[in-house]
Amino acid sequence: MKALVVAGARPNFMKVAPILDQLECTGATRVFVHTGQHYDASMSDAFLRDLSLPEPDFHLGVGSGSHARQTARVMEAFEPVLTETRPDWVVVVGDVNSTLACALVASKLRATLGCRIAHVEAGLRSNDWTMPEEVNRVLTDRLSDLLLTPSPDALPNLLREGIAPERITFAGNVMIDSLMKLLPRARALDVPGKLGLTTGRFVLATLHRPSNVDDAARLREILDGLAIIARESPVVMPLHPRTRERIREFGYDDLIRGLHILDPLGYCEMLGTLDACEVTITDSGGVQEESTVLGVPCATLRASTERPITITEGTNRLAEWPLTAARVVAAYNSAREAGRCAVGERAPNGWEGHAAVRIVSAMESAPPFDANVP
Ligand code: UD1
Repeated sequence: MKALVVAGARPNFMKVAPILDQLECTGATRVFVHTGQHYDASMSDAFLRDLSLPEPDFHLGVGSGSHARQTARVMEAFEPVLTETRPDWVVVVGDVNSTLACALVASKLRATLGCRIAHVEAGLRSNDWTMPEEVNRVLTDRLSDLLLTPSPDALPNLLREGIAPERITFAGNVMIDSLMKLLPRARALDVPGKLGLTTGRFVLATLHRPSNVDDAARLREILDGLAIIARESPVVMPLHPRTRERIREFGYDDLIRGLHILDPLGYCEMLGTLDACEVTITDSGGVQEESTVLGVPCATLRASTERPITITEGTNRLAEWPLTAARVVAAYNSAREAGRCAVGERAPNGWEGHAAVRIVSAMESAPPFDANVP
């Protein structure tokens, strides 16, 4: 079996690492493509290194741009790679622009090349069509031959959209494979100690969704809320480049003076910091999942989540919407009152660190290529 695995943006790297490892273990031929959607050392290289990812066989170097431009650049650069490598499988993960772009290219070439598409993290839905990721999720699932779901809620979402059940396999959460493997190393780094913080006595905040940070009024409410929390407990905030740009553009530098602002953290640094904090406040999808497995209470600053299992089974809660500073503080207080639990105690089924084994085995046992499916 020959599998081409695509990664492009920060949240992809921890998902592809275990899959690439498992492909190697089973003796499959693997091709690793990095689209270059994220390109800063702190958004890409640090992750490749921490996760011991191999050097990409192809680096497409697409960089930033509008959605259309970024998606189009990935498509243009990916097409010749796919034609040259002719894999049996194109494996795409998550919901970023690179995910959809490569799935779309593969779907147009699948009949000619006989390649199938596997989507890892299929079936998640926020039902918020204004989210670019929701568009990417729905369309990638529609184009995929094999839909690998991370949690049971994904199955009804896919069936409702008319996806044939035989194309869907429950795989569990592959991101947690990386978490379980690297947690001891992450803890040994003692990032909080190096920052002069006490484990269990600080808040970790992350913010990067365009719906939060590109909206000047909403960003102000969030930063005001974090400033109120910071009077009580230190707030550590690694800044995504998009958020850093908006804070500068809106003239909000004064609003973050009371926070511990950091550059984006590497994978192990981030995991160690998340594991050590008392509460996390986030708008990231991945942090909702990681905090649930670590047992860290999480307050999510979004109107909806495509990961409802982190609320029903895990440690997550949504802030009331529309966001105000008071609602950010209320969500934090509610998370803090809930308190911490043990690692794995609230982890959903299949979030135990062995998802990559199920993913590769599902690819190996999938029905042979059929030009008429999907
Ligand atoms: C992308 C994903 C989002 C994911 C996020 C994680 C899509 C639609 N969005 O959003 O789902 O949660 O990654 O980070 O694919 N920039 C840099 N250096 C980089 C990368 C980006 O400075 O290495 C800056 C650029 O100014 C860029 C902006 O960040 O315009 C946004 O980057 P982009 O990849 O377009 O989207 P993200 O907001 O990172």
